[in-house]
Amino acid sequence: MGRNRITESISWRSDNPHLSGNFAPIGAEIDATGLEVLEGAIPVDLAGSYIRNGPNPRFEPTSYNYPLEGDGMLHAITFENGQVRYRNRYVRTRSFEIEDLAGHAVFGGLMTPSPVDPALLGPDDDPENPFKASAFVGVMQHGDHLLAMGEGEPAWEIGPELETLGPFTAGTERPIMMGAHNRVHPVTGDLFALNYDVMSPTVTIHHIGRDGRLRRSLDIRLAAASMIHDFVLTERYLVLLIGPAVFDMQKMMEGESFIQWRPELGLRIAVMPLDGGELRWFEADAFFVFHFANGFERGNEIVVDYVKHQKLYFGYGERNTEPPRLHRLVLNTSTGKIREQSWFDKVVEFPRIDERRSSVSSRYIFAPTLTETLTGGNGASATFNCLLRVDTETGDISAHDFGNRIAGEAVFIPRGQGETAGWLATYLYDPEKGSSEFVLLDADRISEAPVLRLGLPQRVPQGLHGTWVPA
Ligand SMILES: [Fe+2]
Repeated sequence: MGRNRITESISWRSDNPHLSGNFAPIGAEIDATGLEVLEGAIPVDLAGSYIRNGPNPRFEPTSYNYPLEGDGMLHAITFENGQVRYRNRYVRTRSFEIEDLAGHAVFGGLMTPSPVDPALLGPDDDPENPFKASAFVGVMQHGDHLLAMGEGEPAWEIGPELETLGPFTAGTERPIMMGAHNRVHPVTGDLFALNYDVMSPTVTIHHIGRDGRLRRSLDIRLAAASMIHDFVLTERYLVLLIGPAVFDMQKMMEGESFIQWRPELGLRIAVMPLDGGELRWFEADAFFVFHFANGFERGNEIVVDYVKHQKLYFGYGERNTEPPRLHRLVLNTSTGKIREQSWFDKVVEFPRIDERRSSVSSRYIFAPTLTETLTGGNGASATFNCLLRVDTETGDISAHDFGNRIAGEAVFIPRGQGETAGWLATYLYDPEKGSSEFVLLDADRISEAPVLRLGLPQRVPQGLHGTWVPA
């Protein structure tokens, strides 16, 4: 896929809050060096890339439901020998190529799918598939593979210059269908990836070795075709929290949303032993989880730190519903009893930890929240301006309030051995100036002045998930 850089800017505008302000997409793919240091200094021992993905619809969508649609765009800040550079590239999925050929949006949204003109399809395309697959949600490194990921679609292999190489097959004959949140086993280093089916009540777990090759795939039967965005992996278990967000084709045919919230179904927890033992089910009152901070075992308990949505709304916070909050759930696998506690009483999403503690006991959670010092936002959900550090041992919370600047998910970059020995990386947007920055905070002293703030040569739209790829 040796393609020229896209240089044209976005030619359309939208009043949709998730397509305007800093949610508006950008068009040009650029490379820039010599970024301006606005504050602090480039850490001399920092070597690698902070890469973040996010929805960046190139052509004006026929309908838009954040965060379900868009073209993927990767933004990378690379540190090398005390120098730093910025680069952004679209994820050139097959769906991207089809729309590139057409010169306009040809897919409907997930809520309003529409068949694609057969004239635009190639011999390998499925004319029956009305869904765009554009890998805009997450990005991760597994072994030699850097993957851009969406949900229920192929992951795309990304090269060192952020170029799209092709669909990830894990050594098989065809692309592996998977989601954006996949988890690495703390002992074996194997990857567990999840795929759900919008048409049938099945979720598939792919077990991919550290070598990037598929070991096996197994199906779990659900009560209904359900949306599952993330899951928990512990040393011995894979744990699914299945909220009642159900795909309903009949409702869609009647002009309603394809995803229906069915609280009467409750929340079902599947605990699957990794050694092949019998799957066990537990039940709780309905809620929804997009993101887990971490999950781990503690004796006969499974401890899960996560963001609790009382119900599923896309565009949460825009309707009269409780904001998503950071919670801990403790499941006793002997008695089936569940304990809950809340870490913080205001809106939180996109929680992250020091990934070296993933699936083993972790103490600190880093997550963005929103404070009243942000005055220039456009009211869209998933707008944050403050990073929290939550100590789950003491309950203490420290914060870095960016004031009238919009922040995103913080990615932990390890530096030393301790759980907070590292930096937190994110992009910032200044709504007054309409410009973006890259910022590094010391994870151990989050409230203090940033270790580094860099001016960026173009706006970086509000995105979803990022990762750190060490050099
Ligand atoms: Fe996510």
